[in-house]
Amino acid sequence: MSVEQKGFTVWFTGLSGSGKTTLALLVEDELRARGLKVERLDGDIVRRHLTRDLGFSKEDRDKNIERVTFVAKLLTRNEVAVLCSFISPYRDVRAQSRAEIGNFVEVYCKCPLEVLIQRDVKGLYKKALAGEISNFTGISDPYEEPLSPEVVCETDKETPEESAAKVIDKLEEMGYIPKGTAQRRAYSREEERLIEERLRALGYI
Ligand code: ADX
Repeated sequence: MSVEQKGFTVWFTGLSGSGKTTLALLVEDELRARGLKVERLDGDIVRRHLTRDLGFSKEDRDKNIERVTFVAKLLTRNEVAVLCSFISPYRDVRAQSRAEIGNFVEVYCKCPLEVLIQRDVKGLYKKALAGEISNFTGISDPYEEPLSPEVVCETDKETPEESAAKVIDKLEEMGYIPKGTAQRRAYSREEERLIEERLRALGYI
């Protein structure tokens, strides 16, 4: 019989390019390695399918989050680990998602705008600054920082692995996932083999 899994949603919020997707992918890997059922909902992907009719006005962003919240709620109540990465710039809308979904862990991917403009992985900040994209979050559209997120990842200071570990630790602390002692090996497989060999030679096992 498989171990009973609790459903929860980790909600990654932050500016474009702040590391939401990178972090969600790492957390997904870790949860899967622990044998959990995971679904990832990501702004760039969801907007090509479920919400392809929507743009970036306040009204459309709210609809985007509303639909995704509905899906995350269904998955969460069916014991799935759900990872949502959306800019989700409005505090009250995130609060609604939290209330709707229930088991909700908000992760703020915090990174100074100057750093994001410097990196500009998708080249969108350049375009937004040149006025070629309107309503661009952080440039010509608001982003309301979370006031009390469960986790803050300072993605310009931490490695992605450090940030992912903070999320996993929080999930353990909140009791959503079992403590991962089995996965975080103290010894490598080779070291374990050598120890076992030695113990056998000494007649202990
Ligand atoms: S949200 O505001 O509705 O939560 P979402 O996370 O789904 O946004 O989508 C954001 C992604 O859409 C960005 O990472 C970026 O690639 C792209 N994008 C295109 N236009 C904009 C814009 N005006 N503002 C923000 N992101 C935009």
